[in-house]
Amino acid sequence: MPLVRVPATTANLGPGFDTLGMALDLYDELLIEAAPALEITVTGEGEATIPRGPENIAYRAALAVFARAGRPAVNLKIAMYNSIPVARGLGSSAAALVGGLVGANALLGEPLSRDELVNLATNLEGHPDNVAPAILGGLVVAARDGDKVYCRRLEPPAGLMTVVAIPQFTLSTRVSRGVLPARVALSDAVFNLSRVGLLLAAVQAGDLELMGKMMEDKLHQPYRLPLVPGMGEVFAAAREAGALAVALSGSGPSVIAFCRGRKPEVGPAMAAAFARHGVACTVKELAPCP
Ligand code: HSE
Repeated sequence: MPLVRVPATTANLGPGFDTLGMALDLYDELLIEAAPALEITVTGEGEATIPRGPENIAYRAALAVFARAGRPAVNLKIAMYNSIPVARGLGSSAAALVGGLVGANALLGEPLSRDELVNLATNLEGHPDNVAPAILGGLVVAARDGDKVYCRRLEPPAGLMTVVAIPQFTLSTRVSRGVLPARVALSDAVFNLSRVGLLLAAVQAGDLELMGKMMEDKLHQPYRLPLVPGMGEVFAAAREAGALAVALSGSGPSVIAFCRGRKPEVGPAMAAAFARHGVACTVKELAPCP
């Protein structure tokens, strides 16, 4: 019975909306096997909320692998052991989806290649920037071309650490995407394009200073400010405490600070800024997942 371990992910990395994502050293685990009847158990994060019926994301993903591989669907027993907080911008649904895909693929003797899994995962999720790093690890840049995804995995720069402030409230990706405009100004697109280009150059050169300077965004974060009380102040607090850069993690509500090595002052500063806006949060220091 294959045990699948899938990392949390932080999507966008500031300017790379729907394009960049990085795996983090925090994991969900999943066991999957054929069974006489559908049986899903959830332990840990999401224990009270994750559906245990046929609508379960990991189960639906597993069935998609059976279909893509041309195998008849069977009943499955899925045991989920979750450490990734749900609906906080850390890729919990991508982790469930990828767990189901990878687990089912292993169960069937790996009929699908890793590229096929990335394509399938992206088409199920709707964007590649969580699922691709969840499958490949590291820092991933991905581009969709219809149903196909082109992606490359880069090594996160040595010495990069993150501090994530995770609010107690949840925010669904659907709601957080709902506030985005259908059109953006050309100047804002150029602002982000230039930063994504230099951000990737900085990552490849291991230049943390430049990486930090290139993490501003004008395409999604400004529109999401009203969804995350205190977000602007939390960003400022993290920078004042010594972070190189700060971003909304994925579609939020978690805020992620990027630091050179461990910076113990950053987490409490972010938590205090959230608290001033009535938002309780937990703080995790997470290294990039290699
Ligand atoms: N790129 C996606 C978004 C990530 O920002 O909506 C969602 O986790």
